[in-house]
Amino acid sequence: MQFETLPGFREFYPEACARRNHIFSQWRKVARAFNFSEYDAPVLEPLELYIEKSGEEIVGQLFNFEDRGGRAVAMRPEMTPSLARLVGAKANGLKRPIKWFNIGEHYRYERPQKGRLRAFYQYNVDIFGEAGPGADAELIALLVQALQAFGLAVADFKVRLSDRDLWLLMLAAEGLDSDASAAVLGIVDKLERMDREKAVEKLCPIVGDEADAFLSRIEAVIAIRDFDTLSAHMRSLASEGDIADQIVARLQEWQELLKRLNAAGAGEFIQIDLGIVRGLAYYTGFVFEAFEASGAGRALAGGGRYDALVKKLGGPEMPAVGFAMGDVTLADLLDSKGLTANYVQSPDFIAIIGGAEARDAAMADSAVIRSMGYTVEYPLKDQSFGKQFKEANNKGARFALIYGSDEIEKGVFKLRDFASGAEKEFPRDALAEVIPELIASGLES
Ligand code: HAM
Repeated sequence: MQFETLPGFREFYPEACARRNHIFSQWRKVARAFNFSEYDAPVLEPLELYIEKSGEEIVGQLFNFEDRGGRAVAMRPEMTPSLARLVGAKANGLKRPIKWFNIGEHYRYERPQKGRLRAFYQYNVDIFGEAGPGADAELIALLVQALQAFGLAVADFKVRLSDRDLWLLMLAAEGLDSDASAAVLGIVDKLERMDREKAVEKLCPIVGDEADAFLSRIEAVIAIRDFDTLSAHMRSLASEGDIADQIVARLQEWQELLKRLNAAGAGEFIQIDLGIVRGLAYYTGFVFEAFEASGAGRALAGGGRYDALVKKLGGPEMPAVGFAMGDVTLADLLDSKGLTANYVQSPDFIAIIGGAEARDAAMADSAVIRSMGYTVEYPLKDQSFGKQFKEANNKGARFALIYGSDEIEKGVFKLRDFASGAEKEFPRDALAEVIPELIASGLES
């Protein structure tokens, strides 16, 4: 009987695995360049951790079950609640700002489709303990650099920037309380995929008869693409009083964020788009998503501020901001741009072996070369010289180490450089000295 993988789960044959590891290594490199530390957390968590904290949409997609001890558990659909718990539990002992990252697999029972699977990897990058826009700017700059690391440029992707704080101020100016505002933002989040009539229908119970006009005002805000227009619009909503003061203060934070993003070289990637509000329940301030520049396809990454989550999970008051990038949409984009690296792996050396005594010598020398960190392969069973050379060629080896009976007698090995065609004998006891030189300069003909 043949078994197939479950829908939405992937197998990684070596080439796919090499490609995945290439993505991981770029992610890791960029996180290190910004001096973030790597952490990890369990893949299986108490179901409770996600209820309410993550929001309806994710909870409806959980892989959850009861374990043998009768506990309600879930495979992690995202990292943020686990991370907030980790940080909350040790908050007093951690030096702030806390800058951490993780690369790990996550599980959501979604309908598998382009860009969406049931098991996928995320690159989570978060900062805790810094409330000002400096932390948001650092993370968005990191996100941009992480995408640039794959060769993606300004023509390829954009980061859409929005702000739940500004939305709440706008809706407060409309006279909505916090419950009504949350309901409206839930609708804004789905607006792109909903027809207008349906949106009006959903707004009716919240804002009453003038839902159509209300929606038009929302649409006008979502169409804003530059800061000056956004600023003018916000200031026009309230000229004095508490809301007006808060709007002015918030716009100053926007200016600070945009200034820093420009200074970090990320400015040209930023697109103001209040249509992004994020579906997850914990976001509080600036929120953002990265997309292919054409706007097509699903998000490459998403994140934002979540200043209340650590406390909600039993920790102290702790501002937080972060994002996660997924491997599935990223790999699709790299493929479509021809930026997928060539992952063929070839050995540095292949030992060519003539007889039992030669095999002992070749294996001893291979052990030395391998311990130096270079790749060596030899045939696992005896074969003709002709066949072995053919194999060495097929595998794309750079050098052959030839062990025939003559060489064994003289205590040498013969080296062939496949690029130049040159051959030379070296004493076996000088192996450790000659190998690094050969790797660096090859053998001249
Ligand atoms: P999210 O928007 O749910 O945010 O997911 C972030 C990214 O993970 C998405 O943009 C997408 O690339 C990838 N992703 C999500 N679901 C799937 C799926 N079913 N298949 C393939 N890729 C997927 C979060 O998860 C937040 N916890 C991010 C965060 C970190 N916020 C603060 N810190």
